[in-house]
Order: sequence, then C-alpha cells, then structure tokens
Amino acid sequence: MSLSNIWHPFTQHALMGEMTKIDRAQGAYLYTPDNRQIIDAISSWWVITHGHCYGPLVEAVKEQVGKLDQVIFAGHTHDPAEKLGEALMEMVPPGLDKIFFSDSGSTAVEVALKMALGYWHNLGEGQRQRIVVMEHSYHGDTIGTMSVGERGVYNAAYSPLLFEVDTIPFPTPGKERETSEALKKLLVDHRGQVAALIIEPLVLGAGGMLMYDATVLKDLKAICESDDVVFIADEVMTGWGRTGTLFACEQADIVPDILCTSKGLTGGLMPLAVTLCHQRIFDAHYSEDRARMFFHSSSYTANPIACAVAYANTQVWKNEPVRDRIDALVSRQNDHLQKLAADPRFSNTRQCGTIAAVDITVSDQGYLSNIAPKLYDYFQKCDVLLRPLGNTVYIMPPYCVTDDDLDKIYHALSNAPDLLGL
Ligand SMILES: Cc1ncc(COP(=O)(O)O)c(C=O)c1O
Repeated sequence: MSLSNIWHPFTQHALMGEMTKIDRAQGAYLYTPDNRQIIDAISSWWVITHGHCYGPLVEAVKEQVGKLDQVIFAGHTHDPAEKLGEALMEMVPPGLDKIFFSDSGSTAVEVALKMALGYWHNLGEGQRQRIVVMEHSYHGDTIGTMSVGERGVYNAAYSPLLFEVDTIPFPTPGKERETSEALKKLLVDHRGQVAALIIEPLVLGAGGMLMYDATVLKDLKAICESDDVVFIADEVMTGWGRTGTLFACEQADIVPDILCTSKGLTGGLMPLAVTLCHQRIFDAHYSEDRARMFFHSSSYTANPIACAVAYANTQVWKNEPVRDRIDALVSRQNDHLQKLAADPRFSNTRQCGTIAAVDITVSDQGYLSNIAPKLYDYFQKCDVLLRPLGNTVYIMPPYCVTDDDLDKIYHALSNAPDLLGL
C-alpha cells in the first residue's frame, strides 16, 4: 500500500514506486530536491510552451495577485479578461467572435458541446442532438468528454454514464476518402438530426499521436457546412504553435464554428481555458427570455490571475520571435526523426510541426502494453521525462529546448530497444 494520502492521476499506485518529487523548474528542465535535472520532453502534459517559469508570465502573476485575486464573473468583469479577449480577437481567425472562459481542456470541450446543443435547442431544432466524433479521439476525462472520446479500458467502468455518439473512421493515410464518405452517409442517414462534429485537428493526441492530412480537415468542414452541422475544433493540445501554426485549423484554411483551447493559452503557467464561437451561436442564446441563456459556469470562470498570465502570453507571441523558435524546433525534430526512420527497430516515424512520434517495433502494443512503464522508468533513469502511449513514444518539448537537450532525448530513445531487450 502506498504510504502517501495522495491519489495521482492516470497512475496505478500498486505498480508505481515513489513519485518523483519536483522542487523547481526552469526552461525545459525540472529539478528534484537533490538537484537532479530532468528534461521535460513532454512539456508537462503538453502545457508548457515557452519554457517553465517563463519570465514575462511569472511577472504577470506577481503583478496581478496582489490586485484582484478572484471575482464572480456573472454580472462582473475585469481588465485581465477584457484585455485577453481583445488580444485573442486579434490572433484567432475572423469568425470566432465570442469567448467563453472555463478552466481546463475538458471544460472547454464540455462548454463547446453544450453551446452546440443549446444553439439548436434555441433555434427550435431540438431534434438535432447527434454528435459525430472521430475514431481514436480523446477530449478529456469528464463524463461528456469521455462520451465523445474513444471507448476503451480507460472508460469501460463508466460506460453506463456515457451518451451515444456516431463515429467516423480515423483518416489513415491513403484511406482518407472513407472518413469523409462516412460523414456524408451519417448526414444522409440522420438528416436534420446531427448537431455537431467534434474533432482534434491534424493530430489525435492521447489516441496515439495519430496524424492526418489538412485536406481531410478541409473536406470535413465543407461537408458540415453543407448540412449546417456545427464544426467543433478541439485545439486543446494542438493550439499555441504545437503543429507549427498558432492553431492547427489554419493549415486547412478553415475557421471552425467553435474552437476549444487551453494548455498553451497561459504558456502552461496557470489553468485556464476558452471556448470561442461564431456570433450566431451566441445570438441563438441572446434573448429577453431567461430560459434561453447559456446555462454554464464554474466558480473560477475567468480567474483574473490566470487571465493576466494568458494576456501576457499573447504579448509574448506578439513581441518575441516565438514563430522562429517553433520553426527551428520543427526542423531539428525533423533531422532527428530522419535518422530513426531508417532504423527497423522503429516504425511510423511521424511529425506534425513541433510534435514528433515514433512506434517501437514490438508485438505488445496498445495502451496497456507493458512496454510503456518499462520505457518510462528507463527514460527517468536517463533524466528525460517521456511518457509513452503504449509502444508510441512522442517528443513534444517546450520551444526553448536546446540542441543538446534534443540530442540527449533522441540518444535515450534510440538506445531504448537494445538496452531494454525489446
Ligand atoms: C485534445 C484534448 N482535448 C481535451 C483535453 C483535456 O484537457 P484537460 O486535461 O486540461 O482537461 C486534452 C488533454 O490532454 C486533449 O489533449
């Protein structure tokens, strides 16, 4: 039995030794109390963009914290939220006109689903209730987000709570048409009943860092438009430069009806999320009838400290060469991947922007593969934080990662199969 009273997320305590205690962090590094330096090659669950404890973001917390800590956001507003709202409007594609705040990726997605359903309900088209999702998707761990995600071992126990959805196949390279044909068929079979499609653009993260072409995204958006289906882009993981552009949807030249973002919104420093939507979604809720309002809130909606950090983050994007740093990381990841691509111990080397992934060629695959914990322990011993998804290892570091750090990460990775006897 574990001696600690703390229950950690996605952790089988019976198999896990001591948790690695982290005392402080800077740039791409985490430090233990005895000063062991660990390279954070997964940006601490994909949230850290510029680096840990990034100066301008830390300063924003300090400035805001003694001024206004928290205020109820119903009936009230404040400068950090308003400044962030304005800054976001300058950054996101035109057509995303309204911003709703929440505090995690999951809540941003829950809000998106409720907005889509509320939209149709308020338009008097309450029969539009079906949600279409993509195979292998992950949108979070709340009941609603699990419902629109892949079903598997991680949510089997909770299946009585999950609502039904319609699933289109993942667009495996070469079979992209099957995905768009499946969506078209669903819209014919359930004419006038589909409320929304929710999708992770370009990269399905927790589903295994599965990547697909921007043309698919464009096709799916066009098909949704043909039947007025609300197109929800979950950019919780892909946003803030991870795929090479600020948002992944830009690469398909599409503007979703609803966009969810969190993680990199604050550069990873504070929990905050926003769900942006088209004006018409807001308008459907705008009425003198109180029964038509958007029924959603959480205690910390638009927390001023988190908003101040997110605003500071928008200014970092505006004033610093963040895009150059991203471009440099994209090409450095590519150089390393090229070497692994020719190595038979690895397969499916793939990259989307700053995200690189590779499968270790083994028969024991899938989320519960015993390879994952073995690899995790091995990487820990190499002082690299990598958390494989089954036999898939992905590298998603903060943009400040140095060449030497990347060399160290890929050195550990390329030695893994031999040292672990895989
Ligand atoms: C695409 C996507 N959506 C939603 C979420 C849920 O975000 P959070 O863990 O902040 O609730 C995640 C988390 O990894 C994600 O990758």
